[in-house]
Amino acid sequence: MTARTAAPGTSPTPPTTEPCPVAISIRSLNVKFGNRHVLRGIDLDVPRGSTLCVMGLSGVGKSTLIRSIVGLLKPDSGQILVNGQDVVPMNESELNEIRVKCGMVFQSAALFDSMTVGDNVAFALREHHHRGEEEIMRIVSEKLSMVDLEGMEHLLPSQLSGGMQKRASIARALASGADILLYDEPTTGLDPIISNVINELIKDLQRQITATSIVITHDLRSAYSIADEIAFLFNGEIVEKGTPQQFQKSNNPYVVQFREGSTRGPIRV
Ligand SMILES: Nc1ncnc2c1ncn2[C@@H]1O[C@H](COP(=O)(O)OP(=O)(O)OP(=O)(O)O)[C@@H](O)[C@H]1O
Ligand SMILES: [Mg+2]
Repeated sequence: MTARTAAPGTSPTPPTTEPCPVAISIRSLNVKFGNRHVLRGIDLDVPRGSTLCVMGLSGVGKSTLIRSIVGLLKPDSGQILVNGQDVVPMNESELNEIRVKCGMVFQSAALFDSMTVGDNVAFALREHHHRGEEEIMRIVSEKLSMVDLEGMEHLLPSQLSGGMQKRASIARALASGADILLYDEPTTGLDPIISNVINELIKDLQRQITATSIVITHDLRSAYSIADEIAFLFNGEIVEKGTPQQFQKSNNPYVVQFREGSTRGPIRV
């Protein structure tokens, strides 16, 4: 892994007129931090309009995987095609183009505390899109109503509950026009009912804007409810991938141990 800003730029493949049927395609992805080899030759395809849940133990590299997709870190080797374009060799300005279509909802919601909800949602629009203020406010209001936060532009993040902060963070990703959404533990720390509100929102966005989503979650119930496919990461590799039904029935010993929350099995705790 090297600092992302030092990445040399090479020209990405020009966009095609037909949308790529596979929104995200990862090949032989390797990420190391010093001598710690976190991701070891990951291959993954996420078809457009589908939801992939990524599960695995704490520290296994789930956040590293999605941070690589939006170029927040540069992998040691491999390809990450987003809408057919390899992000790995891209420079910051090319990555900013990718981040317009591919938004990240961070583990901590990561809203700017001193800015209102409206300004948080408008942030990328003001930074990168050069739109008039009236249009920005219209987009902000539209995205806030998509996440059921209509009229809350003027509140500060500290005046929102945890679940509302997560929704504001989703509105912020949507505001720049993203239809690929990468969620890092969107329901962690939320009660089961509010978790369900977030799960329903993820499913609504899949229907409304044909969103393609990667959702990192530790919550089996959430994964079974929202995923088209579940990938299970262990020791830097995807050791199981399949539909929720396949995951529920899998005899893979890593999956069985995770599903049962057992201290006994091949995963040493
Ligand atoms: N920038 C970094 N520099 C050095 N090591 C890092 C960095 N980012 C992550 N790591 C290490 O890489 C490993 C994977 O981290 P990552 O955050 O991807 O795990 P995770 O699966 O998301 O865990 P969690 O479920 O706890 O969020 C960890 O050992 C972590 O300490
Ligand atoms: Mg993480």
